[in-house]
Amino acid sequence: MAPHRPADGTALAPRPQSASITMMTEYVLPQHSNVHGGVFGGQIMAWVDLCAAICAQRHSGRQTVTAFIDDLKFEKPVRVGEVVRLVASISATFRTSMEIAVDVTGEDSRTGRTWPCVRALTVFVAVGGDGKPTPVPPLLLDNEEVRASQAAGETRRAMRLAR
Ligand SMILES: CC(C)(COP(=O)(O)OP(=O)(O)OC[C@H]1O[C@@H](n2cnc3c(N)ncnc32)[C@H](O)[C@@H]1OP(=O)(O)O)[C@@H](O)C(=O)NCCC(=O)NCCS
Repeated sequence: MAPHRPADGTALAPRPQSASITMMTEYVLPQHSNVHGGVFGGQIMAWVDLCAAICAQRHSGRQTVTAFIDDLKFEKPVRVGEVVRLVASISATFRTSMEIAVDVTGEDSRTGRTWPCVRALTVFVAVGGDGKPTPVPPLLLDNEEVRASQAAGETRRAMRLAR
């Protein structure tokens, strides 16, 4: 893989989506749960933020900050003793910001059963040593799925910035 950031200021090389995919697995303990025995929504949001941040830093080669998290819809709970799986991938890139999708799945590790918990869309901004936004490498549009993802991300970005 080419270095993230050429020293001579030339354009950043596009990076494939596969290079920054980030997976996390968390075991739900009693301290993660609400009074109903399910994991706190805020705990899931913290894991989503962490997983997306690692993905953003892998893609950009920079420190990043969370700029935006889209509405979250929690579909099914994950309970104490079950597992939360997170997968973050770059869904679109812009100039200094990146949209990152995080899919969260519940898992019963005793049976192998899995179920969708939540899908989150986040925006992270890369920052330089001066703390100011700095350009990110574009997403490599090397297949139809990634091209569609970039196009959909651009539409969502226009809606976010219009709010
Ligand atoms: C995010 C932040 C760096 C943007 O700084 P800024 O001075 O507004 O910079 P700009 O206006 O140049 O915007 C930089 C990028 O952020 C994007 N951005 C800013 N606010 C945004 C928002 N609410 N939603 C989506 N993107 C946003 C801009 O579109 C731009 O992206 P682009 O370069 O790809 O077009 C700044 O608002 C910040 O530091 N926020 C606090 C972040 C934070 O504390 N997060 C939680 C802990 S990590």
